Parts: sequence; structure tokens; C-alpha cells
Amino acid sequence: MGRDIFRNKFVCNNLSSMVEKNLERVGTGITGLNQILGGGYPKERTILISGPAGGGKSTFGIQFLVAGILQEDEPGIYCSFDESLENVRNDAASYGWDLKALEDQNLLAMVDGYSERAGIQSDEKFITKLEVDELLNLLIRLIDSIGAERVVIDSITAIALSLDDELVIRKEILKLSAVMSALTCTTLMVSEAVNSREISRFGVEEFMAQGVIALKYEFGSTGRRTIQVRKMRGVKHSLRERPFIISDHGIEVFPDEELYGIKN
Ligand SMILES: Nc1ncnc2c1ncn2[C@@H]1O[C@H](COP(=O)(O)OP(=O)(O)O)[C@@H](O)[C@H]1O
Ligand SMILES: [Mg+2]
Repeated sequence: MGRDIFRNKFVCNNLSSMVEKNLERVGTGITGLNQILGGGYPKERTILISGPAGGGKSTFGIQFLVAGILQEDEPGIYCSFDESLENVRNDAASYGWDLKALEDQNLLAMVDGYSERAGIQSDEKFITKLEVDELLNLLIRLIDSIGAERVVIDSITAIALSLDDELVIRKEILKLSAVMSALTCTTLMVSEAVNSREISRFGVEEFMAQGVIALKYEFGSTGRRTIQVRKMRGVKHSLRERPFIISDHGIEVFPDEELYGIKN
């Protein structure tokens, strides 16, 4: 009996290390974060990027897509519900990323979910209502037409806010995540954190994702930014908060720096 338990435990331990070894990874676009995660995000999973306004969430998402296209030949899709695509393209240009050029080569598709919400006209090529089924139909079409392997939904909070209750939020986010995974896409969902203790507006979004990364921003004189991997199924990782900066080249994470040992 005792032996069986021991043997089962041994088998389980070996299986879990096999799972970890065999888990295919997708580069995050951020060298320091790849190091923390031992290679990158688990492929075909959904990761939640949470943080306050100005925390770097959108930059994080765009950097993931640009790096995928330029370094790994993986086309991507960006869905914007909180900002006009014009603003997103301009912000990206400040990091030296020419999104329009990638769009023109059919390596990047930008989905406008903002105009309809804001009640304004849109000249964008791909437009969606704030509605999961409509968004999914468009995503399925775009994944097929450009061969996208990376998807960013900015933000899932906007989608959750449009839904009635917690159960529906869970169901719709799970559907989105499951379809993306079935279509072999790795997906980043951006989540607005109401305060530094919480990860999401409704407290359910983090349970629908296989990974959670929290970005923090210390208001006041230091303006220090930190990143913490809160959850990443199938991946061994530290829970320690690490410093990061946003510069003219985008986000840079310092995996080995002590929190207070760095000047940013
Ligand atoms: N070129 C840059 N150099 C340094 N910081 C920048 C640069 N461009 C933007 N930022 C910082 O990034 C922040 C915006 O990040 P963003 O990804 O839009 O945040 P979020 O989506 O979480 O609101 C800005 O508030 C600014 O502090
Ligand atoms: Mg943003």
C-alpha cells in the first residue's frame, strides 16, 4: 500500500516533469521575461496581462505581436476595444514599430472594436461590435486568411463590462479562450486592475486563463514598475516581483535584479 502510494507519486512527479519539458513555448518578445518563464509562454494557451492604467499592458501586447512577426514568422491579430487603432499605431511608432507596414504585408491584422463602442464612424478594414460571437467569427476568418498564431485582446475588461453577470462572463471568456486554443493560437488577454491587490475587475477573469502576469506601477516619486508571474500552468517559475522599464524600445524586464537595487 505504502509502496503503491510511493510509486504513484513517483510516476506523477515524472509525468509532471515530462509535461513541463514537452510544453512548447512561444517567445514573449521580452528577453528577461523569456528567462523568467524558461523560454516563453506555453504555446496555444491564454495568458492574462493585468495592471493599472498606464501600467504597460498594451505595449506588452503589441511587443508580443511585433516580436512574433519579426523574429518568429508568426503573424498576429490585435483587437482594440479601449483605444482607437490610430492611437495604437501612433503609440507603437514611439517605440519604432511600424504597424501599418506589417498590416500592409498581411502579417498583422488590427481589429477596431473601439469605434462602435464610442459611437463614431470607422474607416478601418476590420470592425467588430463588443460581442464575443461576432468577435470570434471575425477572428476565425482572420486567423485563416493571414495564418495568425498570436492574438491580443485589449481588453477583456471591456468585454466583461458588457456582460450581465459573473456566470456569463465566465462562459464567454472561456469560449473565447477555448476557440483560440483549438485554432492553435497563443492569446494575451489584457485585464484592467482596479487596485494593486486585484488582478481583474470582476475577479473571475484570472480563473479563465492558464497564465496570469501582473504589472504594477508605483505612483509617486519613484515611478517604479514591476512585473510578477502569478500563475503559468505547466511552467516552473518564481513568484518574485521583478523590475521592468518602458523605454524607446518598448518593455525590458530585469530578471536578476533585486527590486530596490535598480534605478529606472
Ligand atoms: N517611448 C517611451 N519611453 C518610456 N515610456 C514610455 C514611452 N512610451 C510610452 N511610455 C510609457 O508607457 C505608458 C503607456 O503604456 P501602455 O502600454 O499604453 O499602458 P496601459 O495599456 O497599461 O494603459 C505611458 O503612460 C508611458 O508612461
Ligand atoms: Mg492600454
